[in-house]
Amino acid sequence: MNPDKCWSDLRESAQALKKRHLSELMADDSRFDTFSFSHDGMLLDLSRQRMLPETLDQLVALAEASGLKQKIDDLIGGSHVNTTEDRAALHTALRTPAGKPLVVDGKDVVAGVQATLDKMDNLVSTLHSGQWRGFNGEAIDTVVNIGVGGSDLGPLMTCHALSEFQPDNARGIDLHFVSSMDGSQLSGLLSRLNPATTLFVLSSKSFTTIDTLANAATARQWLQDASGLEVETILRHHFIGITAQPQKASEWGIPTQNQLLFWDWTGGRYSMWSAIGLPIAIATGMDGFRQLLAGAHSIDTHFQQAPFKENLPVLLALAGIWNINLLDIHAHAILPYDGRLAHLPAYLEQLEMESNGKSVRLDGTDSDHRTCPVLWGEIGPNAQHAFYQLLHQGTESVMCDFIVPAKRYTEQSRTLQEQHRLALANCLAQARVLALGDKALDADTAASAPPWKRYRGNQPSTVILLDELTPYALGQLIATYEHKVYTQAVIWQINPFDQWGVELGKKMATAMLDELDEPGRSGKLDSATQGLLDRINAQRHSA
Ligand code: F6P
Repeated sequence: MNPDKCWSDLRESAQALKKRHLSELMADDSRFDTFSFSHDGMLLDLSRQRMLPETLDQLVALAEASGLKQKIDDLIGGSHVNTTEDRAALHTALRTPAGKPLVVDGKDVVAGVQATLDKMDNLVSTLHSGQWRGFNGEAIDTVVNIGVGGSDLGPLMTCHALSEFQPDNARGIDLHFVSSMDGSQLSGLLSRLNPATTLFVLSSKSFTTIDTLANAATARQWLQDASGLEVETILRHHFIGITAQPQKASEWGIPTQNQLLFWDWTGGRYSMWSAIGLPIAIATGMDGFRQLLAGAHSIDTHFQQAPFKENLPVLLALAGIWNINLLDIHAHAILPYDGRLAHLPAYLEQLEMESNGKSVRLDGTDSDHRTCPVLWGEIGPNAQHAFYQLLHQGTESVMCDFIVPAKRYTEQSRTLQEQHRLALANCLAQARVLALGDKALDADTAASAPPWKRYRGNQPSTVILLDELTPYALGQLIATYEHKVYTQAVIWQINPFDQWGVELGKKMATAMLDELDEPGRSGKLDSATQGLLDRINAQRHSA
């Protein structure tokens, strides 16, 4: 079928469905059976989406008409799907098991990936066994990852999520993450660390990101001041560089033997599976890291092989398309009901908005569809005490993703198990009330309530239920979102793998730096910027 026809069928269905409340759709006793889908320990429940079974068929028809099957094969097969940068986007190869070669641009990328994993393995063992030593011979016991965006958020989110999976031999290593350009994280941290036992991991695909290089320079200076040693010794003992630009890392001073490399076909926000994942391997051990990769690989295979009607990433994407393009919902809340997933919203903000926050199609024309919504989130129970008021009684339609593991604390105290029960109950109750509104109450109570105690409901949500939060399950979850983003990009005909939108701001900031040192140097500025600059310069130079 032609995509235009699919869109017009969907628009017709949306007109009819906009008039129906979720409570009406959810009155169907087979709702859960029809709208829940599972694969390998993960359940995707779309029962609270404002759709009928036939809506899903129409959305699947749209995915088929958009050529998604071929596009998935192109992605995983290593075609240059990142058209504006003329390269592949092969994060799936980073989790392909050894012995499944994939030749791209004349090279077996899987062999290269496995060789890097072996190098990571060695490095992690050296650290865990106390064999990596600082400038005075003491064993390294603290690792600070310096990076930003994709070189920070994935490892940070994962290390936090999997902190309970630390193997015994990793317990001696303290891990920290530093990203903020202004040095506030680093300055607070350095005063508490021992320079002789601290190792810095500089993570930067480009090795030109000013945020990271500024933090790295401060760390290097701190070590030089503390040790009184020459810079080469400091760099050899206290710095590892992870990058796709080895020459730039060498120019900065990272010795070759301290470099871990990845490839320009790994997008920054898709890079936690590469050497950028070193902090994860340090925290969970190489076994934990390999489990994470295995979970993601299971979803890669599912994404490529499962029929769209049973394909979790495709269905998650189609629910989004339905809400954004057909029901006009442009706000999306990510609500994990598990404190270990505290950094998941920030991670998904980058993954979704940097990938699909685009308005120009692959052929250079303007998109005629709305694309990525505004996405934000928070640990669900905490958000209940912050922004849920808007979800329940505000004027905005918001789609929500509830993410929760069924099992937790099975071998821990009764009170902790009780706390998990509490989180589960809240998750289910919130998803229910957002969908049903007043209809979740008995009819008399609802009818006698004053207006400010009424609940409109009809806010659509998806529930992702993991059996348990393990490295494998987290790998599945993140890969599901990655492929969701790709599926939506295919339907919107945009390139999810570039990020030209952030480049101009970076260039302008460099010019502004000159302006702070030498006012007037960059030529005429607009009056708003000039006014602020004058005020800042007056303050900076006042006694
Ligand atoms: O701000 C854009 C961006 O390029 C992200 O895409 C990327 O993850 C981040 O900066 C960090 O880049 P790098 O790893 O090259 O330092």
